[in-house]
Amino acid sequence: MNSDNWRIANPDGKKRIIVTRDLPGDRWVDILVAAGCRVEIFTGTADLSPDEIRQRMGSRCDGVIGQLVEAWNESLFQALQGAGGKVYSNYAVGFNNIDLAAATRRGIAVGNTPGVLTGATAELAVALTLAAARRIGEAERYLRAGKWERWLPHLFLGTQLRGKTVGIIGAGRIGTAYARMMMEGHKTDIIYYSLHPKPALEELAAAYSRFLAARREPPVVCRRAEAVEDLLREADCVSIHTPLDDSTRHLINAERLALMKPDAVLVNTSRGAVIDEAALVDHCRRHPQFRAALDVYEDEPALVPGLADLENVVLVPHIGSATRWAREGMAILAACNVAGVLAGRPAWNRPDIDAFLEADPPPAAPSILNAEALNLPLFKATG
Ligand code: DGY
Repeated sequence: MNSDNWRIANPDGKKRIIVTRDLPGDRWVDILVAAGCRVEIFTGTADLSPDEIRQRMGSRCDGVIGQLVEAWNESLFQALQGAGGKVYSNYAVGFNNIDLAAATRRGIAVGNTPGVLTGATAELAVALTLAAARRIGEAERYLRAGKWERWLPHLFLGTQLRGKTVGIIGAGRIGTAYARMMMEGHKTDIIYYSLHPKPALEELAAAYSRFLAARREPPVVCRRAEAVEDLLREADCVSIHTPLDDSTRHLINAERLALMKPDAVLVNTSRGAVIDEAALVDHCRRHPQFRAALDVYEDEPALVPGLADLENVVLVPHIGSATRWAREGMAILAACNVAGVLAGRPAWNRPDIDAFLEADPPPAAPSILNAEALNLPLFKATG
């Protein structure tokens, strides 16, 4: 690990924070510096190995901001605890790279960065849906390869989404935002699969249908699927928004792909391993009318053999949250998580997390996943 690859902000700060990859914007650094931290930021391009992270934490490290590509397991949390650390924040909303139980055993608060990336990720899912349905990737490759000779009535016929049924697996923040974009923007019906009913989403669809009826337009329908199999059979397009855990790993496997319509669209912006990628390649080969659009992969950045050769697949490199606003917001939340825990502030437990992007943020740590398990105080609004 070359020492030239580290940038230090506020060298005399009393608390030492390691940041394993430089982050967009400046405000996140200002927040940590204002909290009295010395901030050591890795500016190299390679991923830091667990040994390199351990080595950098050394014998004194109060907190870390890390990346979704790092496995924060027992061994790294043990090293952080040994260095006197109290807090780790992922620079991501997803936390399948973290052994939360190990962190809790070691008394380390774990933060993530929800909310600020909801719109960006849902927008990318919509973009992928349209790209797959309208064969944008194939058409662009064809044009760039100089194959376009004339306008033709049958050239790249795709699927029009208006009035179709969109299936949403996981109707949390991002799934709900995607459902709204598809329902309000493209007038699709929605079928969702989630552990709990989502009355707010269903009421919204009912209110929107009343609005459409007043304009003599057909209503939209939004309902919960009893089983994921029902959703897969009925939907023309399926978008995955569920977190990755033991219950969702390979949720979409060969058997379930076989239930889908032969010309359906499958979109994934959550985590790659929710789909059995080898089974998807096989399915796409055998069903040329089927289309998939992926932002995330089982073994990023590697792709399973054959995936990149498929014409009926759109592939982008895990850019769901990649807007400047979202990525700067994620950095601010991660910094507020670390600064908040070190200052002994309570954990925020309200949905309006964008308040942390304002000039005068709430005196709290925005998103601490194990706050209750660690008995951390929860934020109480005053006045
Ligand atoms: C996340 O935050 O979990 C995304 O995958 C990266 O933005």
